[in-house]
Amino acid sequence: MILIRRVTLAMLLLLSSCQFLFCQSALNPAIESRIDDLLKRMTVEEKSGQLAQYDGDSAPNLDLVRQGRAGSLFNVFGADRTNAAQRIAVEKSRLKIPLLFGLDVIHGYRTIFPVPIGSASSFDLDLIQQSERVAAKEATAEGVKWVFAPMVDIARDPRWGRIVEGAGEDPYLGSMVAAARVRGFQGSNIADPQSVIACAKHFVAYGGVEGGRDYNTVDISEELLREVYLPPFHAAVEAGTGTIMSGFEDLNGVPATANHHTLTDILRTEWGFNGFVVSDYTSVKELIAHGIARDSSEAVLKAIIAGVDMDMAGGDFGTQLPALAKSGAVPMTVLDEAVRRVLRIKFQAGLFDNPYTDPRRAHDDVLSSANLQVERKMAQESIVLLKNQNNLLPLDPSVKTIAVIGQLADSKADQLGPWAGNGNASDAVTPLEGIKARLPNANILYAKGADILSMEKVYKNPGLYGFVPAPTTATGAAGASTEATPADLQEAITAANKSDVVIMVLGELAQMTGEASSRASLDLPGKQQELLEAIVATGKPVVLVLESGRPLHITWANDHVPAIMQAWFPGVQAGNAIADLLFGDASPSARLTISWPRSIGQIPTYYNHKNTGRPTSETRWHTGYLDESKAPLFPFGYGLTYTNFKYGNLHVETSTINPSETLSVSAEIENTGQRPGTEVVQFYVHDRVANTSRPVRELKGFQRVTLAPGEHKSVEFSVNANDLGSYDPDMKWVVPPGTYDVWVAPNSAEGITGTFEVSAK
Ligand code: BGC
Repeated sequence: MILIRRVTLAMLLLLSSCQFLFCQSALNPAIESRIDDLLKRMTVEEKSGQLAQYDGDSAPNLDLVRQGRAGSLFNVFGADRTNAAQRIAVEKSRLKIPLLFGLDVIHGYRTIFPVPIGSASSFDLDLIQQSERVAAKEATAEGVKWVFAPMVDIARDPRWGRIVEGAGEDPYLGSMVAAARVRGFQGSNIADPQSVIACAKHFVAYGGVEGGRDYNTVDISEELLREVYLPPFHAAVEAGTGTIMSGFEDLNGVPATANHHTLTDILRTEWGFNGFVVSDYTSVKELIAHGIARDSSEAVLKAIIAGVDMDMAGGDFGTQLPALAKSGAVPMTVLDEAVRRVLRIKFQAGLFDNPYTDPRRAHDDVLSSANLQVERKMAQESIVLLKNQNNLLPLDPSVKTIAVIGQLADSKADQLGPWAGNGNASDAVTPLEGIKARLPNANILYAKGADILSMEKVYKNPGLYGFVPAPTTATGAAGASTEATPADLQEAITAANKSDVVIMVLGELAQMTGEASSRASLDLPGKQQELLEAIVATGKPVVLVLESGRPLHITWANDHVPAIMQAWFPGVQAGNAIADLLFGDASPSARLTISWPRSIGQIPTYYNHKNTGRPTSETRWHTGYLDESKAPLFPFGYGLTYTNFKYGNLHVETSTINPSETLSVSAEIENTGQRPGTEVVQFYVHDRVANTSRPVRELKGFQRVTLAPGEHKSVEFSVNANDLGSYDPDMKWVVPPGTYDVWVAPNSAEGITGTFEVSAK
């Protein structure tokens, strides 16, 4: 028996331990004195210019660079373009301060990786870090030194399109993933020519938008803010992120871009963050629409006083700050401090010494076969097996005839997902191509079956073309608002009838998810549900591969389709990775990072909810619904593979601990099936009694464990008692004494359980 020891929660991460320490790296006196020297020589216009970022390298923007009135450009990439703009800054501007080039590298630069919710589903921090390293190497090869990632917003509402960009609903997992991504982007030193500066966004609680409507209001308690939404940002700060982006939303009445409490009291004073804060795209100007500023001058004043250092794209810092500083409305100390933070990052990133990019690098570093291999593995590990009745999967590779059905099976662009950096659709391997490459001798019959709604029509008239699908034959009367033709449907039915097995690739177009892509329905868009039902009615074995940026409404599919895989958008190697899993060349190992709702009415549904005063359904008077279970269709942490695991021998090695000790719990995990497999063993805790109500379970650790058939291992989790604490009603961090429950579990709804005690001192 092998004993795996791993300190999971000696976490730099959750809010507690490092909370009032200055955990960012110590300042470098040599850099600080070079900044002092520059500040003495800068005019107010030049200072304001360092705080202004502009979109693109248009002639007017380059003119601002020449005047020393632009600190950063974004959406400018390719070494020739960045070098040309940089030459103006370092050769033609008066003080020769280099530009910082930023870009949204959300899930890869050119080697496009799975969307973040997919890669997070791997629970594989090393591989996530490695994939961001690839992205950093590619981006820097093309002149990009700053990425607007990771997006670390916790999201509990799949209607919100941006749930695709984050790591799901859990603050612990979100923190671990945030730190891994920052480490991957920044490496050990942002001056490394292959490192980029990370930007944790969107500070903070943007994922809490009401109704899942993008850019909407967020009104939450300080407890929820601190326990759920802040931890991934704190983890990113602890991991050394150079920058933070403020959010678009109104947060408890003070928009995130003007929120002194979060941007200064917490980020600077409590956490000691010494990088800089950039606004989101025009979010400074938007303070006018929020109704907290009369004009752009007041918007700038409120943003910079709250703690925003750079204005993205709006131009208002550039135009308004000089007058505000000259009048004293913005104290010179405030302006200088913001400039200092921006210059500090430029110095730390080595831009003053190495402002240019070697154009030869792109040839070797971008889309290399080594990069593609990392992506293929990441894609394999991101796909969640949700159902596999009678072990239909993996499929026998000697199968003779396969029908592959669905528009997404044959769409290159959609494999990349909604925010594909400098990705190129022609790089993508579709599911159809991947299956054909894996089975060169099989007879593969492709049929689209039905069109998914066109995005053009959706944008033009969301009310009319909104995603609510026509009621389908099996569940209601047929509707007529979408584009599938009976001929498409018939072709798919004919293909299915001729085949031994059917693989259906259904879901959302990539652009149906992401920013400004909230949905009021989680149904399969277009006539895909009708298509699915018609193909299932053929009686052929059906494997459903879902591609989407969010959990979809698949209750019917779960009742009628024997095998279901959630593939998210897997990136350039999509088709190869899907084929690897379908035919057993690799086994699924991903787990859901969000609770999968049964119906839209259940939203929000998340595993770490409170118990309430009436949790059980023994009487009518309980928390829940008359017409629906309150349990999700699949819980957080859920996912299958091609073997089974047995959990046993839970052992709490430290039955009583004081608040400064470490909890150790072990359990034995055994592979009881016929194939090797990887289990994501999860560790949850519940504090039975505290002065604030506690979640029914909280994830506090996980380990990916690979076992051969018949093999078993003891898996141990060690957690500092301090990391089991919570905020009391006065927002003080405490570790309440008393009894705690503990689970070692395959997901958030199952597991073997025990208890331990925390003593008062
Ligand atoms: C998004 C950010 C993004 C920025 C720049 C905004 O609309 O909210 O996440 O980094 O645009 O593209």
